[in-house]
Amino acid sequence: MKKLFIKTYGCQMNVYDSARMADLLAPLGYAPGSGPDDADMVILNTCHIREKAAEKVYSELGRLRQLKLARAAQGKPMLIAVAGCVAQAEGEEILARQPAVDVVVGPQSYHRLPQMLAEISRGAGHVLETEFPAEEKFDNLPGDGAVTGPAAFLTVQEGCDKFCTFCVVPYTRGAEFSRPAAQIIEEAQRLARAGVRELTLLGQNVNAYCGEGPDGSDWSLARLIYRLAEIDGIARLRFTTSHPRDMREDLIAAFGELPQLMPYLHLPVQSGSDRVLEAMNRKHSADDYRELVARIRSRRADLALSSDFIVGFPGEDDADFEATLALVRDVGYAQAYSFKYSPRPGTPASVAHRQVPEDVKKARLEHLQNLLSTQQEAFNASCLGKSFPVLFEKPGRKPQQGVGRSPYLQPVHVDGAARLIGQVRSVRICEVLPNSLRGELVDASVAEVSP
Ligand code: 5AD
Ligand code: SF4
Repeated sequence: MKKLFIKTYGCQMNVYDSARMADLLAPLGYAPGSGPDDADMVILNTCHIREKAAEKVYSELGRLRQLKLARAAQGKPMLIAVAGCVAQAEGEEILARQPAVDVVVGPQSYHRLPQMLAEISRGAGHVLETEFPAEEKFDNLPGDGAVTGPAAFLTVQEGCDKFCTFCVVPYTRGAEFSRPAAQIIEEAQRLARAGVRELTLLGQNVNAYCGEGPDGSDWSLARLIYRLAEIDGIARLRFTTSHPRDMREDLIAAFGELPQLMPYLHLPVQSGSDRVLEAMNRKHSADDYRELVARIRSRRADLALSSDFIVGFPGEDDADFEATLALVRDVGYAQAYSFKYSPRPGTPASVAHRQVPEDVKKARLEHLQNLLSTQQEAFNASCLGKSFPVLFEKPGRKPQQGVGRSPYLQPVHVDGAARLIGQVRSVRICEVLPNSLRGELVDASVAEVSP
């Protein structure tokens, strides 16, 4: 067997893609290894969303070049591939800057990896593939991929047509594309047969999903979710990432109607200032977002929210930043990601006037993160003494301990639960730790609870 090492940067869609690349290479004799040192092939699956991502990739490639030379001295080859969004954005530039790279492959073209490796073995030197669209990719992925636990990702949609002025995604991942529902259902059935109990449906703009249904009509994300919930063994469903503008009524209703749909939603708002939201081309106001959250909560009172925020977007002044803090206070988040604005080449905001100085960005980020951590701690503290269903995913650090996830994605440790991996059990939370919860089985003798 040859050893394959994939290093994944960025979002969950890259995690899914890395797993599919491993599936594609398995029939060629590549098995996952633990690190780059003894790897016959290394893939960097890259992210381009924020600054310095490309630079990080180049310095990692410099280190890999040394390893490749050391292996060559022992007569052993090492193939180096750059995949993902940096590959898409930089293309030829990567081969020019780091000749040790053998393969450059974009996120829509990695299904061609086996052919690309064949070309190399025929003496092609370097190969580069950064074609669109995603359609062909999904038709060509193997249908028998490895399953690594009871919770799995499933990409249902790719690309983005929103063109937020700060974001590279519409350029690196291309236009929105939704996989046909039948293909997704088949993949979900296969995962369920292999023991998967929870599916997280992925897409850059997942709630804009509009795929061809088995009946020929267009299916919305809600329709797809109701269908997936019927699959035997699928106890829980989640989806990410959603755009506020695409939160349709049928999807909102699903939170109230479908017990398999977990009461947790990642709904990025980016800013609480209407002026900034307008300049970001977000297509919604801060109050639109507040009202949307209220509507979803009216269907599912225990809904927990997560978001992404950008501070220091060009032109953001103190009042704009205050408006973001006010929105955070109004909504109340269980968890959130926040970033300093980072100018991305080719995006409209990168050439906007009134870029915010670095020290101001830094101070605002710290302020916002303090508020968000306080909210996260309060949310976790509110779980103390409550009982909820936990899907056990893996053994814990202590003997016999099992670790699972709450409906709100918090890790939950339970002593004696290692035997329950793959099951959903009711757990009472007895301790709130900094990054996780500790719980006890409500009734160790009962069988599975419904979601
Ligand atoms: N600068 C900072 N953050 C960004 N994001 C996307 N582009 C940028 C950028 N240029 C953040 C957004 C998005 C998340 C995935 O990354 O908050 O929702
Ligand atoms: Fe980027 Fe905006 Fe599309 Fe999200 S919705 S991927 S932030 S352009």
